[in-house]
Amino acid sequence: MSDTPQITEQAVAEAVDAALAAISAAGDSTALRSARTEHTAEHSPLARLNGAIRDLPGSEKAAAGKLVGQARARVNQALAAQESVVLAAEEQQRLAAEAVDVTAVPSRRRTGARHPLSLLQEDIADVFTGMGWEIGEGPELEHEWFNFDSLNFDEDHPARAMQDTFFVEPVERHLVLRTHTSPVQIRSLLSRPLPLYVVAPGRVYRTDELDATHTPVFQQVEGIAIDKGLTMAHLRGTLEHLAHAMFGEGAQIRLRPNFFPFTEPSAEMDVWQPNAKGGARWVEWGGCGMVNRNVLRAAGIDPEEYQGFAFGMGIERTLQFRNDMNDMRDMVEGDVRFSQQFGMVV
Ligand code: PHE
Repeated sequence: MSDTPQITEQAVAEAVDAALAAISAAGDSTALRSARTEHTAEHSPLARLNGAIRDLPGSEKAAAGKLVGQARARVNQALAAQESVVLAAEEQQRLAAEAVDVTAVPSRRRTGARHPLSLLQEDIADVFTGMGWEIGEGPELEHEWFNFDSLNFDEDHPARAMQDTFFVEPVERHLVLRTHTSPVQIRSLLSRPLPLYVVAPGRVYRTDELDATHTPVFQQVEGIAIDKGLTMAHLRGTLEHLAHAMFGEGAQIRLRPNFFPFTEPSAEMDVWQPNAKGGARWVEWGGCGMVNRNVLRAAGIDPEEYQGFAFGMGIERTLQFRNDMNDMRDMVEGDVRFSQQFGMVV
């Protein structure tokens, strides 16, 4: 610096005051670093006062050295004190920013899962496509003719009422929520060339109250095979194959005579589950039979030339037996934790 400053008590006190003010105002290490440069480094007032000692006559050197030395010591002390305050605060901030709160509740969004009924439907369809069958479908809002008349239900056959039908207004349109997947039998017969092998899983409706063993909306899988020379033996073999795929190789099928208007003869089918929890048992699984000649005729097929079999079973029941589930309501509540037990999390 050009001119040498006068070492007076006032000049020293001013330099110290300015330094202390700047130091205590420095709130972070960057501000503190520039206060240090400005008030203690080479061209700072205190450094220059210190430098001026050299030019003093020998008799004044000691007093001036003491004055300036004490002033520099005070400023350095203040710097050190402020530095530890600032560094500690900065350390705190950094820790807070980097902190991992191990007690925090994870906010990760739950993923969904495919419903076990959908998965089971696909498993069943796979068993049949593996044998060369085709997948069929029909509307859930169905014409009464497909749901009943074409299936050989008389106008006032008790079965029509027996199936607890949801009739849809206006009644003149004769629409119902299909009570079974059997209308897909007729739809397949009317739309596909023979021979045909069709399996049709889908949703059906009945006016049941929701409880542990009933739901007003449930799923069935229908099968129909029409070919030359099909017999009950083919029906039985097909059902056995499905039972093995669903319940394991030890599963067996039992047919008990029954009545359905659209099959003759008709049977109720039971399945033997050797591995059921609580012991091996027979459980009622669905209905089946040889396609009634009247149904074939309704579709314009000559029953002398073609014969066939049909079957239908509940998919919820299948899931219940297969996975030892007691309450059907779990299947309709839509709780993802229920679905996640069956894998296929998406
Ligand atoms: N549709 C019948 C029911 O829902 C089951 C069935 C299907 C019976 C095919 C015979 C043949 O009960």
